[in-house]
Amino acid sequence: LVPKPSIYYPDFIASNQEDRANNIIPGNSKWEHLEKIRKDIREFKEKHKLENVIVLWTANTERYTVIQEGLNTTSEEILKSVKENNSEISPSNIFAIAAILEGAHYINGSPQNTLIPGIMELAEKNSVFVGGDDFKSGQTKIKSALVDFLVSSGLKPESIVSYNHLGNNDGKNLSEARQFRSKEISKSSVVDDMVSANNILFEDGKKPDHCIVIKYVPFVG
Ligand SMILES: NC(=O)c1ccc[n+]([C@@H]2O[C@H](COP(=O)([O-])OP(=O)(O)OC[C@H]3O[C@@H](n4cnc5c(N)ncnc54)[C@H](O)[C@@H]3O)[C@@H](O)[C@H]2O)c1
Repeated sequence: LVPKPSIYYPDFIASNQEDRANNIIPGNSKWEHLEKIRKDIREFKEKHKLENVIVLWTANTERYTVIQEGLNTTSEEILKSVKENNSEISPSNIFAIAAILEGAHYINGSPQNTLIPGIMELAEKNSVFVGGDDFKSGQTKIKSALVDFLVSSGLKPESIVSYNHLGNNDGKNLSEARQFRSKEISKSSVVDDMVSANNILFEDGKKPDHCIVIKYVPFVG
């Protein structure tokens, strides 16, 4: 398997990832990057004679992007921002826009807010399915199952503390504050959903204390 070159905008992932970024699409034009990713999707579809392509983002967690009128709240705004090379356009934004414009469905396996309003509108206009955010396949899934078990038994969790000791490069990337914040928001959201879905145990809407710790452990054997 030979990975295709991708987009690297250092402001979006942790600075400790720099030495891995060794297979990069050249140039500084975000619009040209968009065109290149679109071409890759198109060629992949043609080469393998596919009816549908699904783009799954499983690259490093990015920081959240700012959501702002004039920048990315409508499909016109976000396309204009790409053309203007706006610094708030992230690599995952480019991938999502490229996928949508090529009619390929897009799934965000990472916690950052790729699916901002302008991208959602673009997906609706092009009748493309998008899904996200975050796989929530490990500790978050276990926590969701345990919380669901307690709450559906009528037991009200008052405090939830989760410790994540991550030994791989994901943990290394999440050891910087802005990327950790994306993961923290994503991991908190499962408890928010549980609180809003149960107005018997949580009649006042008050959420349990929820503390999320992620520690990078370089060597785990
Ligand atoms: N591994 C899990 O169990 C799990 C569970 C839930 C969510 N996630 C999320 O999935 C994502 C990937 O996790 P992982 O464990 O595979 O991480 P990882 O760090 O091992 O792999 C991510 C890879 O993406 C590459 N990358 C970074 N930016 C890129 C870009 N712009 N284009 C192409 N490649 C790029 C990195 O060089 C790295 O090789 C993370 O956001 C993580 O939080 C993982």
